[in-house]
Amino acid sequence: MNDDFYRIRRLPPYVFAEVNALKQAARASGDDVIDFGMGNPDQPPAPHILEKMQESLHNPRAHRYSTSRGIPGLRKALAGYYERRFGVDIDPEAEAIVTLGSKEGLANLAQAISSPGDTILVPNPSYPIHAFGFIIAGASLRYLPTASSGPEFFERLKRAVEYSVPKPVAIVINYPSNPTAEVVDLDFYGQIIDFCRHHGIYVLSDLAYAEVYFDGNPPPSVLQVPGAKDIAVEFTSMSKTYNMPGWRIGFAAGNRELIAALGRVKSYLDYGAFTPLQVAATAALNGPQGCIDDMRALYKERRDVLVDGLNASGWKCPSPPATMFVWAPIPDQFKEMGVMNFAKLLLQEAGVAVAPGVGFGEEGEGYVRLGLVENTHRIRQAVRNIRGFLSRHGVHDDLPKSA
Ligand SMILES: Cc1ncc(COP(=O)(O)O)c(C=O)c1O
Repeated sequence: MNDDFYRIRRLPPYVFAEVNALKQAARASGDDVIDFGMGNPDQPPAPHILEKMQESLHNPRAHRYSTSRGIPGLRKALAGYYERRFGVDIDPEAEAIVTLGSKEGLANLAQAISSPGDTILVPNPSYPIHAFGFIIAGASLRYLPTASSGPEFFERLKRAVEYSVPKPVAIVINYPSNPTAEVVDLDFYGQIIDFCRHHGIYVLSDLAYAEVYFDGNPPPSVLQVPGAKDIAVEFTSMSKTYNMPGWRIGFAAGNRELIAALGRVKSYLDYGAFTPLQVAATAALNGPQGCIDDMRALYKERRDVLVDGLNASGWKCPSPPATMFVWAPIPDQFKEMGVMNFAKLLLQEAGVAVAPGVGFGEEGEGYVRLGLVENTHRIRQAVRNIRGFLSRHGVHDDLPKSA
């Protein structure tokens, strides 16, 4: 029997598995692991959201199959969010769809619009589904640098289009970026839309971190560019904004043809998220938004404790303006061993787990990603452990010894 399945053959071994196995082994032998490995929010949703969910559980009709496009009220609530946050008009009937998390939406849009032989432009490093959604769909990838490469980004984009036969079908962009935490301005989106419209390339924007920003600068939406809806669709999510990652509720909004294509595929695959979750998600989007300020304040405090602590310990890393991640270049002393070995050593010797950058693509070599998912007490402990680890390996700190 043939078990050499085409799609499975295209999936490399899971890069994080090695570090995860070490993490589990350390825990099993009773060691404490301070875990910055995954971007999994550790806080619950706001009480009014939970109450709405509980209330709607008592509606006997709420337990039936839902609708794969999402309940109308939730699509309207998404349109309301786009209007008040970005000044963008979204038709909830034709330009919005609810997904089982934005990850499902990205993966099924990839299925809907690409076939073997198609080329998709994807950033490297990237959140894995940006690449693997298309790999699973059978498409070929061409990697682009992320936006902080400045003019090189557009040079490489031009070259990629010039030398791809057939011409790329779509480009994936993700700002604020996971894993690099880079942000872009509206002008960047304007240039992307101009270029892609000219070349007939769809733009797929992942705005999962729309509300996770710290320095008073809300990230824009690509849909703010006039005419963007002609070629662009954007994914947003309840997961990080409202601490609802396990609920699996996300959205796509924008271009009608892409929304219809995604809706068509989904209509064959799912019946939508459990209705009480959608009702509560509607309450989240339409209700008081103070919980978002609390979420930001929490990550900002953690970011500052971690980044200040690492820098003072001799590990120089930039402070992320957005997202729940610190993207840290590993100290020079460790560059030669590579980030996989560095992550393992850090776990074994400091009891701190991080995500090795190569898990996000080859351009992630030299970096690790630290998720702000431990409390400040544990972050301080991690910094102390890391400081000891670094000094044992010849990296010198500039902290007063009592800190
Ligand atoms: C950039 C990015 N997009 C999408 C997702 C998936 O979000 P969801 O929970 O909506 O599927 C994540 C989750 O970490 C992410 O970092």
